[in-house]
Amino acid sequence: MSKAKYTITAALPYANGPLHLGHVAGVYLPADIFVRFLRMNRHDVVFICGSDEHGAAITLRAKKEGITPQEIVDKYNKQIGDSFKDFNISFDIFHRTSTDLHKETAQDFFKKLHENGKFTQEISEQYYDEEYNQFLADRYITGTCPKCSNAGAYGDQCEKCGTDLSPTELIDPKSTLSGKTPVLKTTSHWYLPMDRHEEWLRTWIKEGKLNGVQQHDPKLWRNQVNGQCMSWIDGGLHSRAMTRDLDWGVKVPLPDSEGKVLYVWLDAPIGYISATKQWALDHQKDWKDYWTGDRKLVHFIGKDNIVFHAIIFPILLKDHGDLILPDNVPAYEFLNLEGDKFSTSRNWAVWLHEYIAAYPDKLDELKYVLTAIAPESKDSEFTWKEFQTRVNSELADILGNFVNRALVLTHKYYDGAVPTLGNLTPEDEQILAEMKAIPARISKLVYAYKLRDAQAEAMNLARLGNKYLADNEPWKLIKTDEIRVQTIMNIALQITANLSIVLQPFLPATAIKLSQFLNFSNDDWTIAGDANLIASGHKINNPSILFQKIEDALVERELASLEASKSVNSAAPEVINTPQKEIVSFEDFTKLDIRLGTILEAEKVKKADKLLKLLVDTGIDQRTIVSGIAAHYTPEEVVGKTVSVLLNLAPRMIKGIESQGMILMAEDMERKLSFMIPEKGFEAGGEIK
Ligand code: 2FM
Ligand code: ZN
Repeated sequence: MSKAKYTITAALPYANGPLHLGHVAGVYLPADIFVRFLRMNRHDVVFICGSDEHGAAITLRAKKEGITPQEIVDKYNKQIGDSFKDFNISFDIFHRTSTDLHKETAQDFFKKLHENGKFTQEISEQYYDEEYNQFLADRYITGTCPKCSNAGAYGDQCEKCGTDLSPTELIDPKSTLSGKTPVLKTTSHWYLPMDRHEEWLRTWIKEGKLNGVQQHDPKLWRNQVNGQCMSWIDGGLHSRAMTRDLDWGVKVPLPDSEGKVLYVWLDAPIGYISATKQWALDHQKDWKDYWTGDRKLVHFIGKDNIVFHAIIFPILLKDHGDLILPDNVPAYEFLNLEGDKFSTSRNWAVWLHEYIAAYPDKLDELKYVLTAIAPESKDSEFTWKEFQTRVNSELADILGNFVNRALVLTHKYYDGAVPTLGNLTPEDEQILAEMKAIPARISKLVYAYKLRDAQAEAMNLARLGNKYLADNEPWKLIKTDEIRVQTIMNIALQITANLSIVLQPFLPATAIKLSQFLNFSNDDWTIAGDANLIASGHKINNPSILFQKIEDALVERELASLEASKSVNSAAPEVINTPQKEIVSFEDFTKLDIRLGTILEAEKVKKADKLLKLLVDTGIDQRTIVSGIAAHYTPEEVVGKTVSVLLNLAPRMIKGIESQGMILMAEDMERKLSFMIPEKGFEAGGEIK
């Protein structure tokens, strides 16, 4: 059977800021490992990325830095591209969506769908800032979330409760440009009627079939990808606007569309195609070979990109008619940092370019740790302490120690020439059988996108080797049984050669060093497992230490630097305060019945991470209130607290429970919630005036 061909993409990062370790662990590193593995297995593969240079993410950043959007994308395209290069991420191309080739590609794509009746044109009312004379992209509108009352929700999403919103759902919307209340104005846009696509999407995602033909193995799709897609589809797909009123983006290529650009989530994934086109031009290839026919398209992404890659882009590709749909969309959960979310605005991050500058000789160490803790199926966490432990006790003590012993002893006993393999003991046979089995196990895991387990399996080979030498102690045996030592050392060297192959996708720089030490070419996976990779008599080179241990001082320095950024940020928070709401009369104010209430009972609401169901003594009755505080308090912490309660809010059904009031909360600059609690001595029923 001929080898599967692959087109691999890694999510195009917005050119609006540097990369941090969360991005690396959850998209670029796994994609790179996968591609390196495919290349070593002689698959036909192209690895595509580039920067995403349109959308509000860019214009907002430009506004913040006081420079033009073009200057922003030029700056960050360079910085991000350099970091990828320095970190040795092996894209075949790192392209840009601001190039003419991309603009043409996206426009042609749009025109084709338009001509084939794949869009509908709809007139709607959208928010407009009269002071700035412009329609407001969703991100340019903030207001109160109708679901959780978060006052800092955006027009497309409430980041606190995770609800997808449309700008008109926001309570008390404000323009982030002028701070004023925007007005509604009619405008016309092209929409993708996604409701037309529910049926085939359901079968395609669940069963992997399209028009009755098997396209992919649905068992290889991650649960969170299936789950998010099915919950979208089951909730009913709606039309989504594919154009925007903006002056930054790819112009809509139709008459009478002045001031309109393509929606960034239409334009960005087409960026994978335009990048392929550029690469094909540069290498005298035909880009269509990479987007049609018998080829697997795989999108490595973060979980916030799932619906765009597993629902919207597939609809667009299918509507286009001649292009392949993704074979898999390996999506990663989020990586946290030292107990908190990565946050660009709070500078709570380890920036890739800063790490590279500080530790240019420790890139594989970072790759190893990020893969070992990769958030494949659930969120995970990077801590400097764990970084130190894994480097010291796994890379240095196991892998480094084994390789060093094998090579140094070969030089010492045999002047660097591989000794002969003699009679094998049952233990030798077992070791060799294990060594043979490991590459196949790794392959199986990689093809199933389980890269974390695959790396652990590769390290098992180093463990095996380390234990083999420790058990056999050739440095002692050399005094009594020189012949036996030759066999032991031959086996240790064969293990080392195998390591140089199986570690290559994960630790490419280390694998190159190993291959140089051994004077052995290690880029062919298919020979891995062989017990005679290097012949007896073959001369090896002098080794050097593979991994230096991480000192406590490094951990302390990095933690101190994070702490410092925390205090700088809390002194000058970047959070934009919500503008004052409209004036209300005293009469209106007195309509609110706010009192103290004591929480008597509390429990988590099933299937709702954010919600607690509370029984509250209000002084006049005991009532049930559902409150969105579960991320901030456990049920045990809240029982017995006397807090502020809005009593006469109209009852609302929340997750099937009638909530009869609202607990009032104070919010800090980092959006943490805390109860508004009176000084001591106050009891349930006391009024708040
Ligand atoms: O979430 C993001 O960072 C987007 N820029 C990813 C785009 S992926 C693709 F569609 F281009
Ligand atoms: Zn919300």
